[in-house]
Amino acid sequence: MRLSVIGCGYLGAVHAAAMSSLGHSVVGIDVDESKIEALGRGAAPFFEPGLPELLSQEIATGRLTFSSDIAAAADATVHFVAVGTPQSADGLSADLRFVDAAIDALLPHLTPGDVVVGKSTVPVGTAARLAEKVSATGAVLAWNPEFLREGFAIQDTLTPDRLVYGVAPGDDVAKAALDEVYATPLAGGIPLIVTDYATAELVKVAANAFLATKISFINAMAEVAEVSGADVTSLADAIGHDARIGRRFLNAGVGFGGGCLPKDIRAFQARATELGVGDSVRFLTEVDKINLRRRDRVVDLATELLGGDVTGKRIAVLGLAFKPNSDDIRDSPALDITVRLHEAGAAVVATDPEAVANARRRHPEVGFGTTTEALAGADIVILLTEWSEYRELDPTVVAEATAGRIVIDGRNTLDAARWRAAGWTYRGLGRS
Ligand code: UDX
Repeated sequence: MRLSVIGCGYLGAVHAAAMSSLGHSVVGIDVDESKIEALGRGAAPFFEPGLPELLSQEIATGRLTFSSDIAAAADATVHFVAVGTPQSADGLSADLRFVDAAIDALLPHLTPGDVVVGKSTVPVGTAARLAEKVSATGAVLAWNPEFLREGFAIQDTLTPDRLVYGVAPGDDVAKAALDEVYATPLAGGIPLIVTDYATAELVKVAANAFLATKISFINAMAEVAEVSGADVTSLADAIGHDARIGRRFLNAGVGFGGGCLPKDIRAFQARATELGVGDSVRFLTEVDKINLRRRDRVVDLATELLGGDVTGKRIAVLGLAFKPNSDDIRDSPALDITVRLHEAGAAVVATDPEAVANARRRHPEVGFGTTTEALAGADIVILLTEWSEYRELDPTVVAEATAGRIVIDGRNTLDAARWRAAGWTYRGLGRS
């Protein structure tokens, strides 16, 4: 099939490469010419394991091309819209400017029988509105939300937990086209849910709201554990054995960040309020607050462990990305904590295997360096992103570089007994 993917950010670039690997002819389109130029030579504009290799492989087959001209979509019959829906200036609702601009630019190139497939995360009701514009050209609209996790983006695209199609009442054209696009994953037994637009839009935000709630639930338990001498990790292990609860996404720590969960739960509240059911998702305000309080907790704990004042103290921060295997610093708890410690007067040297360049661009005032530079002479070590190389650090070797022997494990990922045995004051979150 001939496909276009409009918007070559994280989602679109991965989707374009993955669809090409299924044997389709794909043109990836973006208004950002530098991004298109990079993608065209197989370079991913962000860190994602396996993506540069997949891009190069697919470009070499001749099936995958990139263009900054929307007219390049004219030859395709299925058009995926994968542009961003960032948080608006109001700090809550989703900004749909890019979605509308992409659809409007695409309209003159649509021909009857084409299928436009929305993949972006949008407020419920958006698809129905866009469908009116699209159907005026004789094309049809479907909504096919994406659930990919950064770091696992290719795997999540090619073998997702489920596929969801939101289609117009009585429309068989979009379903048939998507069945053909996803023939390989479907043949592999990936579950398929075909539903209406509103449900498809809500599936995505509901899934992210649930995941965010699960993380904030365990972080709330961490707050209780901290004042009662309990251990949140053992608690998570114990409740996680209940199959109805499950152990995944029950890791207490500095909380969730990234380009999806924080903005999606805020946009969901804004949309629900518009629809008159704000009370139904009011708990998400609390989910957000619990999440942000964990960042305060690390700043407070570091201050306490450094004798009540961080001024002039050398702090080694390990990790800046919002999670490992990513260079993404959007709404990263690690970067937020780093900046706050710097602003409080500490001499911070922060490091990360992939995210230093992005962090430095955003906050040139903060000190950044290699792991060796961060640790050298540090009074305290604070781990904020659980990269495997930090987990594997030898506490005896680290102690030779640092001035102090205090470690805050913001992800509860280090072997506490091992660090304590090596003479360290070890503090996790939600554990004594
Ligand atoms: C998320 C959803 O998982 C994905 O389905 C959706 O499409 C986009 O948003 P992503 O943002 O890539 O994906 O990250 P995810 O792996 O979900 O982690 C989100 C945040 O939660 C990270 O900051 C992570 O560190 C944190 N987290 C996750 C925890 O604090 N504890 C956990 O137990 C799990």
